[in-house]
Amino acid sequence: MRTVALGSSDLLVPAIALGCMRIKHLEDARIRELISTALDEGVTMFDHADIYGGDHACEERFGTALGWSASEREQVILQSKCGIREGYYDASAEHIVASVDESLRALRTDYLDILLLHRPDALMEPDEVAEAFDTLTASGKVRAFGVSNHSRGQMELLRASVAQPLVANQLQLSLAHAPVIAEGVALNMAHAQSVDRSGGILDYCRMTSTTVQAWSPMRGPGWEGPFLGDRDRFPGLNDVVDRLAAEYQVSPEAIGTAWITRHPARIQVVLGTTSPERLRRSAPGADLVLTRPQWYELFRSAGHIVP
Ligand SMILES: NC(=O)c1ccc[n+]([C@@H]2O[C@H](COP(=O)([O-])OP(=O)(O)OC[C@H]3O[C@@H](n4cnc5c(N)ncnc54)[C@H](OP(=O)(O)O)[C@@H]3O)[C@@H](O)[C@H]2O)c1
Repeated sequence: MRTVALGSSDLLVPAIALGCMRIKHLEDARIRELISTALDEGVTMFDHADIYGGDHACEERFGTALGWSASEREQVILQSKCGIREGYYDASAEHIVASVDESLRALRTDYLDILLLHRPDALMEPDEVAEAFDTLTASGKVRAFGVSNHSRGQMELLRASVAQPLVANQLQLSLAHAPVIAEGVALNMAHAQSVDRSGGILDYCRMTSTTVQAWSPMRGPGWEGPFLGDRDRFPGLNDVVDRLAAEYQVSPEAIGTAWITRHPARIQVVLGTTSPERLRRSAPGADLVLTRPQWYELFRSAGHIVP
């Protein structure tokens, strides 16, 4: 699978990572099958968060099911996140360091490759975050840092205090929910799509060598199910996806993936499937390069305007 450089770090990561938010109720054997399918497909990076499943539960399921050796651990890239607590966000130094310790225990490892601040904490003190990142760097518990759902201003505020580069910003992005791309395409127009809600976050990430990671790549806005196969909500989009899938002899999942990875920002897809079969069907998308007319046809068929 194609790899991308993670931000300004020397880490090369696969164009697709596997998100582990939904594995809490999977049996050990099923988790092992999912991970081994991922590795077979070149998906060697796994995305976690302390909050997934509640109180490190998904990390715990992952660590228990794998029971891996130190050398197996070194073959993969583990990313986790912290900062979402029950009803509030917490980017205090104390919480960041404590959450990482719990993630390491649950995942049965002594380091995270990447730690992301999950959501912007309105009460965040940049110097405290810097202190936590320094502590985690010095102890070798975290190798690289980033953010998720952060704006340009929030990233710049952090960058003014934090010594380590912010290598990633994980944002919600799919064919059916693409405001960070669509806003710019409709700039200046008297149309709802032209409202700039993200403050040009995608361009900012490109200019600052920050890898954008796309969360919920197969779903639309909100928490509804996937857009693939949902002909009630996305009839035109599914027609185009199915036609291109037939043309390229891949599955519709691969087209959903390819639409994201085709973007020149070299966006990393964070797939959330718990199905080895769906993972296998999505993976070829990372190496499929859609033409411009195809990319834009998919974009239009998802309801975006190209004025
Ligand atoms: N940073 C953040 O704030 C944030 C927020 C949410 C998620 N995330 C990360 O992003 C990852 C992915 O998020 P996600 O799970 O919402 O992503 P997703 O890949 O868009 O959606 C996965 C869900 O859609 C279902 N699905 C996918 N394709 C399908 C199809 N063709 N037909 C039927 N069902 C299909 C999957 O079911 P099956 O399991 O049965 O395939 C699964 O329930 C998470 O695991 C997490 O790591 C981050």
